[in-house]
Amino acid sequence: MRILLTGGAGFIGSHTCVELLDAGFEVTIVDNLSNSSETALKRVEEITGKKVSFHKCDILDRDSLKKIFDSEKIDSVIHFAGLKAVGESNEIPLKYFLNNVAGTVVLCEVMAEVGVKNLVFSSSATVYGDPKSVPITEDFPLSATNPYGRSKLMIEEILQDLYKSDNDWNIAMLRYFNPVGAHHSGRIGEDPNGIPNNLLPYIAQVAVGKLKELSIFGNDYNTSDGTGVRDYIHVVDLALGHIKAIDKLKTNPGLVTYNLGTGNGCSVLEMLKAFEKACEKEIPHRFAPRREGDAESCYADSSFAEKELNWKAEKTIDDMCKDMWKWQKNNPDGYK
Ligand code: NAD
Ligand code: UFG
Repeated sequence: MRILLTGGAGFIGSHTCVELLDAGFEVTIVDNLSNSSETALKRVEEITGKKVSFHKCDILDRDSLKKIFDSEKIDSVIHFAGLKAVGESNEIPLKYFLNNVAGTVVLCEVMAEVGVKNLVFSSSATVYGDPKSVPITEDFPLSATNPYGRSKLMIEEILQDLYKSDNDWNIAMLRYFNPVGAHHSGRIGEDPNGIPNNLLPYIAQVAVGKLKELSIFGNDYNTSDGTGVRDYIHVVDLALGHIKAIDKLKTNPGLVTYNLGTGNGCSVLEMLKAFEKACEKEIPHRFAPRREGDAESCYADSSFAEKELNWKAEKTIDDMCKDMWKWQKNNPDGYK
């Protein structure tokens, strides 16, 4: 069975590609390489000993996309392609709506045209805005605090309308919490452009000596140690969640939505300590003011995914830090 991954050369896509190939699926990748490198796919092939069919193509390019669907027998699509930098989305919102929202519309139009109606979509915990309490279940109120988040929310609504109009679609919207870590081989991992915005890539670059010190954004939150709490999930656990979602689509569930998280909250200071243990050195850090728009605490209730998908995140914070450190140490400049 062949699965097409849009954005499959990226961080989560490349790890999902490994797990799909290992599980016996065939994989086609469509990626414009705007935030990734073909090297990641070479390494996926090296890890798995299997080939992927790669097309350098923008999902907004309808004609090229249609040709790919016409030339390969695709069963289902996992739609990772998108821009994801929250800060950047405030500066260039239209680019985010064009790429993420219009890109999804074009993809779905082409899928409808060729009769491929199984879709897994990369949504995000960002659709919960500033959650009223934790843990977060799928029925919590939704809101957006920035254009990136709004693009995810709009896509979720578009997919709901699409399903209402045509019940032949099977759509799984997966709301990821905070994906981190890397493949245990240390050959593929997250390769952010420029200075990372996210905690783990930032810590890893301080640990390897590329950045001077970590700024901890706020130590006066109402949490166990005053620092922000998140639900960090190992990218390989997340990748395995996609395989379970693909299996679920086979049962014709219609449109379904799942939180993919561990259900455990971890503070910035706890994460810092775990990373120091993994890299066996102290990581310089200082306390800084809160970052605008940050929620105090955000973690999932993932029991619905556990029940419906028979999926549960297994890896610990120590696993995440160990694998992340192996990737960072062996590839200080990412894929460059
Ligand atoms: P990533 O940037 O590493 O991967 C996205 C991939 O999509 C990249 O390879 C990029 O080149 C490609 N792409 C972007 N626009 C495209 C277009 N128009 N046509 C073709 N390819 C295009 O990001 P990731 O961390 O792997 O995230 C994957 C998905 O998961 C994204 O949709 C993201 O919004 C979502 N998500 C990520 C996180 C996270 O923290 N990493 C959290 C929640 C949701
Ligand atoms: N943090 C620091 N210093 C840093 C970076 C982050 O203290 O240099 C703190 C933040 O204040 C927060 C925690 O570390 O408390 C996690 O921050 P991240 O930027 O790693 O992650 P966020 O939860 O803020 O956001 C991420 C993605 C969003 C996505 C959201 C929910 O970046 O795109 O998870 O899925 F929407």
